[in-house]
Amino acid sequence: MFGDAAAYERYMGRWSTVLAPGFVDAVLGTSASASPASVMDVGCGTGNLSVELLARWPLTHVVAIDPSPAFVATARERLTPGRSRVLVGSAMQLPEAPASVDAALAMLVLNFLPDPVVGVAEMRRVTRPGGVLGAAVWDYGGGMAMLRTFWDAAAHVHPDAGAVDQALDRPARDGGLEGLFTDAGLVDVAGGLLEVPMHFPTFADYWEPFLLGIGPAGDHVLGLDDAGREALRAELAARLGDGPIEMTSTARWVRATVPA
Ligand SMILES: C[S@@+](CC[C@H](N)C(=O)[O-])C[C@H]1O[C@@H](n2cnc3c(N)ncnc32)[C@H](O)[C@@H]1O
Repeated sequence: MFGDAAAYERYMGRWSTVLAPGFVDAVLGTSASASPASVMDVGCGTGNLSVELLARWPLTHVVAIDPSPAFVATARERLTPGRSRVLVGSAMQLPEAPASVDAALAMLVLNFLPDPVVGVAEMRRVTRPGGVLGAAVWDYGGGMAMLRTFWDAAAHVHPDAGAVDQALDRPARDGGLEGLFTDAGLVDVAGGLLEVPMHFPTFADYWEPFLLGIGPAGDHVLGLDDAGREALRAELAARLGDGPIEMTSTARWVRATVPA
């Protein structure tokens, strides 16, 4: 699901790039005085969050970690040498020492972990006392219009698609993100919503990235036969029209402090 960096950028990276500034504003703040010395970007993908962190704060160092070697290779090419280390690794066992960073952030990652409780515990372990943890996930169950539209159409055409959709929403549902952070023993837990405006000039610009096999939606499309894929395309086209298509997609964010 996460093996082709260019395909990821076309499918989701173009939107995580837009999400990143608002997420950093919400979790770490906007002022130069808030500048963290070191931030871990957990599940960095192709590096869109790290790019934002390095551009925003000229003295900040980033440690970016992702299990996908292809994504790590792309992130390495993009991130400022000397101010970044990009590692292949898992959130389930972060390859860093305890209390080694000022902040650990995970953007669009927690819902892909085998156990988000372990991932958050690991983020807490590597963050110094008084440091900040932050996470964002798309609001699959509600306002993530791009994927809500996809999964509603997918479940209409192939009823078993609903199970994947439900699983993706689990970490964020019913205050789940705040609960995860509170249960991890973090303090000053706060959360909210971020909106990403999405513009697709044509229906093809919305549909074709789903054919690239990225993420659970791309995986679902790859698993369909030709007739099934065409039925899904036709259902989405009926719902969305030829374009241009304007949507607003919502992500949930949470931030908290590691107790001193
Ligand atoms: C939707 S992408 C988000 C990437 C990037 N943070 C962004 O916002 O563009 C999900 C990422 O989670 C990563 N991922 C999957 N399992 C993981 C794990 N066990 N530990 C860390 N990252 C993981 C994937 O490789 C992928 O890069």
